[in-house]
Amino acid sequence: MISEIPRVDSSLGLIIEKAFRQRRVDLHQYNANFLHRRLNVRLSAKGLHDYSQYASLLDQDPTEYNELFQALSINVTEFFRDNDVYDAFYTHIIPKILNIGKQNEIRIWSAGCATGEEMYSIAILLNQASERYGSFKFKITGTDVSAKAIETARKGKYTHSSLKNLSEKNLKKYFQHESDGHYQINKNIMDSVTFNIGDILTMPTPNSLDVIFCRNIIIYFGRKAQDQLFVKFAHSLKPSAYLVLGKTETIKDGATSLFESIMPRERIYRKRTSTA
Ligand SMILES: C[S@@+](CC[C@H](N)C(=O)[O-])C[C@H]1O[C@@H](n2cnc3c(N)ncnc32)[C@H](O)[C@@H]1O
Repeated sequence: MISEIPRVDSSLGLIIEKAFRQRRVDLHQYNANFLHRRLNVRLSAKGLHDYSQYASLLDQDPTEYNELFQALSINVTEFFRDNDVYDAFYTHIIPKILNIGKQNEIRIWSAGCATGEEMYSIAILLNQASERYGSFKFKITGTDVSAKAIETARKGKYTHSSLKNLSEKNLKKYFQHESDGHYQINKNIMDSVTFNIGDILTMPTPNSLDVIFCRNIIIYFGRKAQDQLFVKFAHSLKPSAYLVLGKTETIKDGATSLFESIMPRERIYRKRTSTA
């Protein structure tokens, strides 16, 4: 069992370089303590004692990259996590988007979508909104650095515990209860979402977006990476479009020139028009 954090040495630099060169994942931008802790989990699992042994392992067994990125993934999520945020999205944001541009398509990116619960929650709300306001198209793209999380998301199959925030009515309407006890989300909802593997720090981002959900991820990144992400998000969003962060995440300092807080408790921000 490795209990100490290894010194930051050139072998750590080597791991960071390999991850970027081989998989375009920028480990450098993670909060240093978080990165050490998660790397130590992998060293421990493989019975290794230092980063140089781990760097060699990545060469010998490239599937270890997936394990490493999985270790960096805290996949905690559930349907309608922090339900007040979804309420605000449904009640205030969707009508504004539909009305402002008189548009009939909404484009959303869930950055760090984990196992898909966030995306399917958004898709359910958009489905309900189209029943209420009249039909409109929507396109939801979800990305996550963890291949395992994306694989789960693509299946759209969940246990009852991750669905506890859904009413019985919506559970019946949007899911099939299967003989193995799992709940399979309906095909029409699955067809409205697309999942891709990608590091939000390095991947090309979708553009002309109406909303970006990036919740409970940026806390793992250092300040510089957070600031770079906000610039990236501002480029990806349409003028006056929306950014939704996690409940413990905020936009500070320089990035406040890009986004204004419109619903502070729900962590909903709007892109400033002057940055368009
Ligand atoms: C705690 S989950 C949040 C899931 C969802 N957004 C929510 O709030 O319920 C954090 C997710 O961020 C993903 N993640 C971490 N670093 C990432 C990166 N650089 N690029 C993309 N996803 C990342 C993890 O794999 C994990 O699935």
